[in-house]
Amino acid sequence: DIGEMACGEYGSGKFSDPIEISSIINNYFKNLDENKRFKALVTAGPTREYIDPVRFISNRSSGKQGNAIARECLERGASVTIVSGPVAVNYPKKAKIINVETASDMLKECLKSLPVDIAICVAAVSDWTAEKYSIKKLKKEQSIKSISLEKTPDILQNLTKSKKKPKFTVGFAAETENLKNFATKKFQKKNCDLLVGNLINQLGENQVFGSDYNKICLISKLGYEDLPILRKSEVAKLILDKIEKLLE
Ligand code: C5P
Repeated sequence: DIGEMACGEYGSGKFSDPIEISSIINNYFKNLDENKRFKALVTAGPTREYIDPVRFISNRSSGKQGNAIARECLERGASVTIVSGPVAVNYPKKAKIINVETASDMLKECLKSLPVDIAICVAAVSDWTAEKYSIKKLKKEQSIKSISLEKTPDILQNLTKSKKKPKFTVGFAAETENLKNFATKKFQKKNCDLLVGNLINQLGENQVFGSDYNKICLISKLGYEDLPILRKSEVAKLILDKIEKLLE
């Protein structure tokens, strides 16, 4: 820099402000990191399983947690694909967004997006779909006492069993009680690297669905960890911190 120097002279050669030096170094390494991007797949939102052209079975899900996780992946230099069911959130423009409705379409799109380094399955995939779909709208005058259901494909398990299996998979478990117990069982069953359990009825009136807050636990080979009620953006940061730690 130009300025007064320790030797008493004035001119170019002055030692630059250390804060400025560190910010140039930080930017240099940030750019290097950006070139070493990892690929992330995030499933988000609910799926809709149609009974007829106007009626469907679905799950409650705003897409906010999935959106926060996708944004955090982008912040950390990832290229991100979001496969999402119908939601009203604004996904980041930098991500590749694939809109789907049904679980089977979500599965197809997820498999098409492989290979990825990390798959984070936040979507509230409907567990059941109608065994028979009626092309014509069912009339209310018809007497329908029951609808036969069959299970939808498990997207997370299909990803972990795929030949192009992601290096790291994350599953979610939404529970209303016994979080530790149910989430631990799901961690074993789903064969994922990290399971995020979330309590969906612990925020009082400020329910998890559609809210900006979430209450989660993390289960991995590092053990079980309970977290307090946090903003979904903070939850996303802690999940990504944990993924980075486990990948180390
Ligand atoms: O089995 P359960 O639905 O409770 O598991 C939840 C986790 O599995 C979530 O990560 C969800 O995205 C994923 N899942 C899936 N395909 C399904 C059902 C759930 O990927 N059909």
